[in-house]
Amino acid sequence: MWRLLAGFVLLVCAADATPVLDAKFVPEFGKMYHVKGELSLPLSEIKESFEAWFDLEGNRSRIDYHKGTVRTFLFGSALDYGVIYKITPVTTETEIQAIKCFQLNGTKEDPIRPQAALPDLQGFEFEKMENLADVLCEVWKKVTQAGHKKNTYRLWVTRSVGKGSTAIPHRFEMEGYNTLLESHNDKYTIDYSDFSPQTESDVFIPPLGMTCIEFPDPVEERQILANPIQDYVSTSPVSHAHRLFGPFKEKFSRQYESDKEQEERENYFIHSQRFVHSRNRAGLTYSVGINHFADRSKAELARMTGGLLIPDKERDATDSPQTFI
Ligand SMILES: *[C@@H]1O[C@H](CO)[C@@H](O)[C@H](O)[C@H]1NC(C)=O
Ligand SMILES: *[C@@H]1O[C@H](CO)[C@@H](O)[C@H](O)[C@H]1NC(C)=O
Repeated sequence: MWRLLAGFVLLVCAADATPVLDAKFVPEFGKMYHVKGELSLPLSEIKESFEAWFDLEGNRSRIDYHKGTVRTFLFGSALDYGVIYKITPVTTETEIQAIKCFQLNGTKEDPIRPQAALPDLQGFEFEKMENLADVLCEVWKKVTQAGHKKNTYRLWVTRSVGKGSTAIPHRFEMEGYNTLLESHNDKYTIDYSDFSPQTESDVFIPPLGMTCIEFPDPVEERQILANPIQDYVSTSPVSHAHRLFGPFKEKFSRQYESDKEQEERENYFIHSQRFVHSRNRAGLTYSVGINHFADRSKAELARMTGGLLIPDKERDATDSPQTFI
């Protein structure tokens, strides 16, 4: 079936003598969709699968991680400024994999909106046609620059055939280049599959009868915990993870010798953040956390630990995070 479909898409593109003409219209994914994806963080050797439902008019979205082990429900119309529920297994000193519900209320300044699992294509430009796993795709590109960070985002799409022109996403990729360090120091990819332009309304019903508690401190981290995919599909050069670097430096009294070191340390910190949160979403029986090693490189860490990842229990208790979600 998939081969057939891929063949058909190819045929459609090939039959059109001027595919670039079509490509002038920025792809749109519509106001409602279901899609699966796999997030790859090549620099941390992490792959994470998710499944997402988006319903803009219903003002709601849901994203599950790791085959539904972790579920996030966002409701824009609930309470005054919307609400997020996250249902996740939690392991603490007294309980293993206990299913808990966490709640984040929107505020006037930060209202909760349904979370898209696909990037907003505002500002993207058509770059080229390219084969991706035997499917001829349009590639759309956007470049952002903030400080020394130059990010290039690319999205591979095909078009659905028939009424309307809903696009079908295949891959989204971010490549970061640091102009001060002159290095390609950031990259991640989301591979999409199973896109369909509809959802069922019962997927948006969170489990009943759970008592939901507040997300743990620090406050700055709550957005990342409550809505993990936001930083990845956004094309804003300053992510929530970047905003945690200031509080981190303060907490561990960091003073770096040069702008260059600062950029390097921030970059390691971002990778640590992503690694830690991704590992914790995997529902491991122990948790990894952000501690005072978060701004070190892999090579530095390997020298310090002999290459072993240390579970929190064995770390100095004062450095252990309060976060296990
Ligand atoms: C979603 O809910 C918010 C808050 O109630 C509201 O301001 C917004 O207009 C709603 N959006 C839609 C598309 O209904
Ligand atoms: C979120 O809103 C609910 C319902 O209004 C309220 O019971 C709860 O205390 C609020 N949580 C926080 C952290 O403000």
